[in-house]
Amino acid sequence: MTIVSPSLLSADFGHLADELDMIDRSEADWLHIDVMDGVFVPNISFGFPVLKHVAKLCHKPLDVHMMIVDPERYIDEVKAIGAHIMNVHYEACRHIHRVIQQIRATGMRPAVTLNPGTPVAMLKDIICDIDMVLLMSVNPGFGGQKFIEHTLLKVAELRDLIAESGSAAIIEVDGGVNADTGMRLVEAGADALVAGNYVFSSGNPEETILTLKRL
Ligand code: DX5
Ligand code: ZN
Repeated sequence: MTIVSPSLLSADFGHLADELDMIDRSEADWLHIDVMDGVFVPNISFGFPVLKHVAKLCHKPLDVHMMIVDPERYIDEVKAIGAHIMNVHYEACRHIHRVIQQIRATGMRPAVTLNPGTPVAMLKDIICDIDMVLLMSVNPGFGGQKFIEHTLLKVAELRDLIAESGSAAIIEVDGGVNADTGMRLVEAGADALVAGNYVFSSGNPEETILTLKRL
């Protein structure tokens, strides 16, 4: 079964507790949390005062996606909300190797995220140090964008890099995921799918999560 991580960004924030109840009841594996700073990406989402409440209300493991510059400044805060995975962008870290070790030292699982314009080859020297690669299939910052088809080739390329290196990293993809793009991503070798708009704008989000899980 595919790992499914619904993205909180597309939830109805006027009814956050209900949305988190739905996630808890559903077959979702994780809850994907997009933290933005208005610098690394042209948008601002939510910060730790909000996430503390989210973490209390939701009992799924938290898959935290940091879209901020120098994300190592917030490793302790991410740990404090009980996150399972901390994703940092390759493009946002001056010393990506050190940041990975710092995340690992807290007991969280380190993951490295690549923007659509960053080649998979940049992961060559760190692929054995991380538990997951998050490939962006849209330019980060907003939900509801169109899937970039080239991501399918990157998934296949990353599968090869993981096999050659003997890394245990899994592959997650984020952006424009629906049943069609999701199916093609899983065929290409993706293990986990993030879905915001497709889940939360659906008439039956729990059923939509199940559809993605069965891909
Ligand atoms: C985009 C975020 C995504 C976003 C995905 O910057 O990283 O997690 O919520 O939304 P959809 O699935 O609607 O493209
Ligand atoms: Zn994300």
